[in-house]
Amino acid sequence: MNFENIIVDKSDGLAIVTVNRPKKLNALNKATIEELHTAFDSLNIDNTIKVIILTGSGDKAFVAGADIAEFAHFDVKQGGELAAKGQELLFNFIENLSTPVIAAINGFALGGGLELAMACHFRIASDNAKMGLPEVSLGVIPGYGGTQRLPQLVGKGKAMELIMTAGMISAEEALQSRLINHVTTQEELLPLAKKLSEKIMKNSSVAIAAAINAINASYTDGVDGYDVEIGEFGNCFGTEDFKEGTTAFLEKRKPNFPGK
Ligand code: COA
Repeated sequence: MNFENIIVDKSDGLAIVTVNRPKKLNALNKATIEELHTAFDSLNIDNTIKVIILTGSGDKAFVAGADIAEFAHFDVKQGGELAAKGQELLFNFIENLSTPVIAAINGFALGGGLELAMACHFRIASDNAKMGLPEVSLGVIPGYGGTQRLPQLVGKGKAMELIMTAGMISAEEALQSRLINHVTTQEELLPLAKKLSEKIMKNSSVAIAAAINAINASYTDGVDGYDVEIGEFGNCFGTEDFKEGTTAFLEKRKPNFPGK
């Protein structure tokens, strides 16, 4: 895969996707969104890849938002299309990926950058990271799912405050607010993401995909998450991974999941 705005590194079942526009603090322009879509799509169907880590290049920013220069002249129709296309291609797409995606937030995660991190399955951050949804300071609102996912993670009141004040919070505050799961130093951020990935990789990738689907179901309108859980639970009994997992337990050995 050859990209201009992102870097994809694959090794030992892990893919690290790095948004690579450091001069623009990794701001998400149209081309970057399209490249991220292509990369995530192909990594998701690659059976050798068990976990994806998403991060930003440089030591200053994860992603400093949607590329303001690109949409500053848009009209109402173009604005709506920008949000719809971005949500479809990237944000909803990542959230519903069957391969786990961890956001490793290495600096500013603002606007579309925080929305991107929130679309990942969970988030960790370095202690220099700053997070916020500053869109109302530009006269718009979050358009890549931020008004929906922020309240899911931090609760409605905190989300209202963060969005209305357009303020930034530190990694420590983000941890307290449950926006992220762990804080570490910049040097230890990728090692921690890899350590978590290794723990995930030991488990059944088929069962993990089913769990992602069931968890996401509770946030999908008109879908009963309990029903989805029952369906996914039942399906697990037909997988090779289930046979291997239960047999290994009974034989008192570690499972070697085929991922089927
Ligand atoms: N879109 C487009 N370009 C961006 C950008 C964005 N969201 N965020 C940063 N950049 C660009 C800057 O324009 C600048 O480019 P230039 O060198 O060609 O002028 C470069 O990245 C470096 O940013 P700069 O503002 O000089 O860095 P800083 O350290 O002074 O400030 C931030 C860092 C993150 C506080 C500041 O860049 C910022 O507020 N960015 C916008 C955040 C935002 O509102 N995001 C939501 C968008 S919906």
